[in-house]
Amino acid sequence: MPHPVRQRILITGASSGLGEGMARRFAALGRDLALVARRTDRLDALRADLLEHHPGIRVVTAGLDVDDPDAVARVVPGLVEELGGLDRFVVNAGIGKGASVGTGQAAVNRAVLHTNVLGAHAQCEAAMEVFRAQGSGHLVLVSSVASVRGMRQTRTAYGASKAALNALGEGIRSDVLGTGIRVTTVLPGYIATDINVGRRGPFTVDLDTGVDALTAAIEREPVRAYVPTWPWRPVSALLRVLPLPAVRRVT
Ligand SMILES: NC(=O)c1ccc[n+]([C@@H]2O[C@H](COP(=O)([O-])OP(=O)(O)OC[C@H]3O[C@@H](n4cnc5c(N)ncnc54)[C@H](OP(=O)(O)O)[C@@H]3O)[C@@H](O)[C@H]2O)c1
Repeated sequence: MPHPVRQRILITGASSGLGEGMARRFAALGRDLALVARRTDRLDALRADLLEHHPGIRVVTAGLDVDDPDAVARVVPGLVEELGGLDRFVVNAGIGKGASVGTGQAAVNRAVLHTNVLGAHAQCEAAMEVFRAQGSGHLVLVSSVASVRGMRQTRTAYGASKAALNALGEGIRSDVLGTGIRVTTVLPGYIATDINVGRRGPFTVDLDTGVDALTAAIEREPVRAYVPTWPWRPVSALLRVLPLPAVRRVT
């Protein structure tokens, strides 16, 4: 079934990197946007820039820390009301620090799990309440190729957080299968943003290339998409079956 144009889109983590990039792409497509993050100065500047270049669209913004579930539950319905409904929610806010487990960095790893799992969960609750009431909508979860296998050092907690996101997305999808609600999980490989400064891996693409691929994948609304498809779909398939010592060598 062809899907409708998703006119009203909420993006979390829109103050930089992929979230900001997606906002720019969707604005160029004439979509109305609700943009949230903690750095509201950056959201305000982005809003002004988007409206200057695309005066026909609506852009609303709000400061939001996704670690605070009460704030998520309060801010999201307010933005949805301002937009007059919601057609797509992109669960994008995330952090990527971390350290080998058992090396005295528990707080850093816990922060990653908190934001990427509990923060994402809070966003899904808020988004799905809106979509269930409407009987329609597109939920997008920004996971990572790092979720495909357990990974060491800085990526252990991060990969685990994104694996949880994959399961969360699939469970929600199972719940609403056959309804007007779609769920897409996107798994980007390395795209150059602030999250991976100093620890970019193989096949890193620049922000423009990555955001183009990400936006195109989201617009197709598949169940799951590797971004960019080449090389990350075959690489992910390979990672799934490689023995752990081989995975360890390449990640
Ligand atoms: N770049 C990659 O290679 C790559 C690969 C796979 C997956 N991803 C995923 O893509 C998503 C976006 O990351 P990015 O690469 O664009 O990195 P980024 O430039 O660091 O952006 C992260 C965004 O998340 C927001 N954020 C972080 N913690 C937040 C919180 N507690 N509450 C609200 N917003 C929060 C940040 O906004 P504020 O600081 O203003 O709140 C920022 O806008 C993340 O989920 C990341 O895991 C990225």
